[in-house]
Amino acid sequence: MKKITATIFIACIFYASFAQQTVNMQINSKANNQKISKYIYGHFAEDLGRCIYGGFWVDSNLNVPKNDRIRLDVVDALKKIQIPDLRWPGGCFADQYHWSDGIGERSKRPVRVNTTWGMVEDDNSFGTDEFLKLCDLIGCEPYIAGNVGTGTPKEMEDWLEYLNYNGKSTLADMRRKNGHDAPYNVSLWGVGNESWGCGGSMTPEFYSNQFKRYAEFCKNYPGTSLKKIASGSNGDDYNWTDVCMKNIPLWMMWGISMHYYTITNTWQHKGSATGFTEEEYFKALKSCLHIEDLINKHSAIMDKYDPQKKVALAVDEWGIWTDAEPGTNPAFLYQQNSLRDALIAASTLNIFNNHCDRVRMANLAQAVNVLQSLILTDKEKMVLTPTYYVFDLYKYHQNAILLPANFYSPDYNFGSDSIPAINASASRDSNGIIHITLVNLDPKNKISVNTSLNGSSWKQTEGQILTSKNFTDINTFDDPNKVKLAAFTDFKKNGDELTVNLPPMSVTLITLK
Ligand code: AHR
Repeated sequence: MKKITATIFIACIFYASFAQQTVNMQINSKANNQKISKYIYGHFAEDLGRCIYGGFWVDSNLNVPKNDRIRLDVVDALKKIQIPDLRWPGGCFADQYHWSDGIGERSKRPVRVNTTWGMVEDDNSFGTDEFLKLCDLIGCEPYIAGNVGTGTPKEMEDWLEYLNYNGKSTLADMRRKNGHDAPYNVSLWGVGNESWGCGGSMTPEFYSNQFKRYAEFCKNYPGTSLKKIASGSNGDDYNWTDVCMKNIPLWMMWGISMHYYTITNTWQHKGSATGFTEEEYFKALKSCLHIEDLINKHSAIMDKYDPQKKVALAVDEWGIWTDAEPGTNPAFLYQQNSLRDALIAASTLNIFNNHCDRVRMANLAQAVNVLQSLILTDKEKMVLTPTYYVFDLYKYHQNAILLPANFYSPDYNFGSDSIPAINASASRDSNGIIHITLVNLDPKNKISVNTSLNGSSWKQTEGQILTSKNFTDINTFDDPNKVKLAAFTDFKKNGDELTVNLPPMSVTLITLK
């Protein structure tokens, strides 16, 4: 009798821990009031490590397809996921960058030391015109971060005249001489970067005055209305947001930024990008999901001064930051990218989508060879990371209408702690097609989602999935397709309901046509 009871007890525990859980999700398919800004899907390319030099901009004799020295396989990959904008030249580097160093004949450009990132020599061969060429090839908007830390308002004013003035002035003529007759019409404009830290160690009171001073000289040349973005808070520095929102007239800024990085352990010991335990997997996901709390709190402060939500919260740096790959220069921030990182990207993008009333811009750090990259390169070789595929799956949300999804998620428990196992977002595009992106963070359990779409009808259901056997799985130059997209068919339609069975550690896109 005792033995049978014990067996039943063990069987129950086994069943409880591995039984398929079910989530009921209501998607308001008729919603019509919030647009998911395409700028949430923005990217970031700093003059740091091998992002620009050796990533986008390569040696003229490297044997890859190129336009000038811009690497075209990288361009094509970014084109495919329709990136809306690319932020440059930093990051911290922006506040040490003087734009006039990077224009004109390359052999005459000054060589500077990149004191922020590894004290390396920078020949300035990649400057303003090269960056604008890169954006043109990708088909994305440029987002330039101006220098407040070591630059002057005059320098920023001149840069904009060089870029955007259509008339006859010495600076506009200089642009023509450098090969670009028409103005570039750059509108996304950062006024400094991390001005609380590497951008000048300012207080929010000092920075908000500096913002007003610099922004005053950032002119709207005919044909271009600037979207000025104030340098915002470091994670949970709510006072920064409060002071800036109070001191800067709302009409002066299009957005205010916030930077938040997912960290597994501590800033000193961030942990490996490839060799981590389930405990570290869990901690990283928990750190990633914390961004929702930050968005809620910064938004509440912004609501006090801007109840009509005119000013965007621009999360223009985000992603997981791990230790650099062993054997690489630690100042170059080169890290591998695993299935875990793809789950982080997918969950973060779901959070941004669901907060699109305030979050109207975000830029993953960074596009190539730095931090949570989309693409890794090594001389001629190139590999797409698991994170890249998330952007491929989520591109349909750009400029689509948010369809709020309500549900209670089961927990993913680790030790005595827990996080929601499921997160999701949904949208309807201009053709009426619905896209639902679903993430299951639980590393062991399949979870079933019963979705009801309040009376919507559709003819065709399609699915795509990103998953792999282990959360540490990565794509390498030797094994580039370990983590990649696959067709997904584990769903069942019943009227306006759809049951989707989400495998452990997966990102799924469901398309309803
Ligand atoms: O993305 C790397 C660095 O992180 C950026 O230069 C800086 O803005 C942030 O601290």
